[in-house]
Amino acid sequence: MKPIELNNSTIYQVDRDFTVLNEYIKKQSPSSIFILVDDLTMENCYPYFISHLETVARLEVIEIDNGEEFKNIETCTGVWNAMIELGSDRNSLMINLGGGVITDLGGFVASTIKRGIAFIHVPTSLLGMVDASIGGKNGVDIGSLKNQIGVINPPVMTVIDPGFLNTLSYQHLVNGSIEMFKHGLIADRAYWNDMNNATDYHSELFNALIYQSILIKSDIVRSDPFEKGARKALNYGHTIGHAIESYCMDEEALTTLLHGEAIAAGLLLESFLSVQFAGLPKSDYKEIKTWYDALDLDITFDNSQIEDIIAYMQHDKKNVNGEIRFVLLEQIGSFKTDQVVSEDSIYKAFEQL
Ligand code: GLY
Repeated sequence: MKPIELNNSTIYQVDRDFTVLNEYIKKQSPSSIFILVDDLTMENCYPYFISHLETVARLEVIEIDNGEEFKNIETCTGVWNAMIELGSDRNSLMINLGGGVITDLGGFVASTIKRGIAFIHVPTSLLGMVDASIGGKNGVDIGSLKNQIGVINPPVMTVIDPGFLNTLSYQHLVNGSIEMFKHGLIADRAYWNDMNNATDYHSELFNALIYQSILIKSDIVRSDPFEKGARKALNYGHTIGHAIESYCMDEEALTTLLHGEAIAAGLLLESFLSVQFAGLPKSDYKEIKTWYDALDLDITFDNSQIEDIIAYMQHDKKNVNGEIRFVLLEQIGSFKTDQVVSEDSIYKAFEQL
């Protein structure tokens, strides 16, 4: 598939072939290569990856624990210390091999150590392939508040190999697919329809849907790399979804809830709000509700939990002067940013779950 150029970064979608990465390394000749993995990608992805990496440079592998709860500054400190002890310098290269936590945190570590070294993302989760590794956002959480600390700084390249999807459970494939549906909702009705008709995650057709998802996201990021306008649309469903995630993390409620699952609930509720505040046709909303119901997620909250979740929305990065600002849909395929919504309406939207 044709490489995608995005803000000084190139995205390659490959098929079990790391030639582009090997050629880059040969040309740049880094002094050392640091590969960041978690315990799961160390076991399931690293053996394949390392057997295809060709380099004479010194290789060091740094392993962290898997899970969003480790996406914090303490983990970064551990990785920074390890890199310094292992003799990293400005000419070192970092390769982040893993899902969204690894690419977000690894990108942040690489962007800040020695004031920044080159880094490459090799996402191994579907969520990482279609979202986290695209667009240069790097960072970590503060407590349960998502992505509060970070920088926008693109990797030199992202190498997407859907072959890694074979290492994922069905639940994690669904988890990643939610961001693909989101891309359809905000930018492309035909793509939304195609996603609804897709049945097999391990097929040429699905690989083409991954590529299209990356194109949709790249077009938006290219037009607004620093999220002053259109890029906010990529946070559709995340105002409520992130608040649900933070609530669940702090209260130890729904502890198995994955990012994409919380975002699916956010997409449903923000679509409900879109009918009232942005003119989304009810027929479009019904389609979104049918899609959500088929996910069979079983996410519900009582009144006092909803109040707490709304309080978490005060920390959303799109807020202005303490006012919660939403991205809403005008119809499937087009959006409006900076929409103000009453708290009562948010509360009422939760009845849709
Ligand atoms: N994940 C949203 C963005 O990259 O802007």
